[in-house]
Amino acid sequence: MTALLAVSGLVAGYGKKTVVRGVDLAVQANEIVVVLGHNGAGKTTLLRTVFGLIRPQSGRVVFDGRDITGRSPSANIADGLALVPQGHGIFRTLTVRQNLELGGFVVTDRRVMAERMAQAFALFPILQERQQQIGGTLSGGQQQMLAIGMALMSGPRLLILDEPSIGLAPLLVERVMSSVREINRTLGTTILLVEQNLKHGLAIAARAVVLNRGSKLYDGDPAELADERKLLEMF
Ligand SMILES: Nc1ncnc2c1ncn2[C@@H]1O[C@H](COP(=O)(O)OP(=O)(O)OP(=O)(O)O)[C@@H](O)[C@H]1O
Ligand SMILES: [Mg+2]
Repeated sequence: MTALLAVSGLVAGYGKKTVVRGVDLAVQANEIVVVLGHNGAGKTTLLRTVFGLIRPQSGRVVFDGRDITGRSPSANIADGLALVPQGHGIFRTLTVRQNLELGGFVVTDRRVMAERMAQAFALFPILQERQQQIGGTLSGGQQQMLAIGMALMSGPRLLILDEPSIGLAPLLVERVMSSVREINRTLGTTILLVEQNLKHGLAIAARAVVLNRGSKLYDGDPAELADERKLLEMF
């Protein structure tokens, strides 16, 4: 089986500073993979490099069998990747509907645009109710749903989510996590997720990866990490 996403020997950082230190990572089609690790471990840097926001110092990113290393985010979106950045990344002064439309900027067919919008509304009915509300005035949970809805507007095959549950009340964390699962199940979208909530991250994923200071420490069955001793070894 060829992986939908295959990262090999990825080294990336900021200027001369190296943050991600030779990471190999494969995500199979339809899989949910969770990336765990301490603050500053390099999780966001890894996702941003995969998505094309950071050019790697070395290593390769292969998507659907094609080398996309260093390709621009807009080309990646057009090809089926989408990133929900840490801290939402919505347009705070635009309405919910305008945000969704911008999320679908690569969509040229109006019918497809309407279908995707309906899909986002089915997943998050609150967005339909609040279509005309200004994004920045939504609650934290609603903003996160909007950010995910925006990413879905481009019809991604690989949805990359950077800590979607951060700062949310427990009930909302459950809500967002079950939406991620629903997206995976009903749309067949492959998911690469960074999550600081271990319980939820491990529960949702088919595979877990632990990053420590930019290196991969673990890659395997999430159930194994549910064992506290194993987890203590990791963290
Ligand atoms: N734009 C930047 N310029 C310089 N250094 C940065 C930049 N962004 C992040 N870093 C550094 O890179 C390291 C890894 O950061 P990164 O955001 O990838 O970690 P993370 O695992 O996502 O952490 P968190 O769990 O807090 O989100 C940190 O030491 C951070 O300070
Ligand atoms: Mg981060």
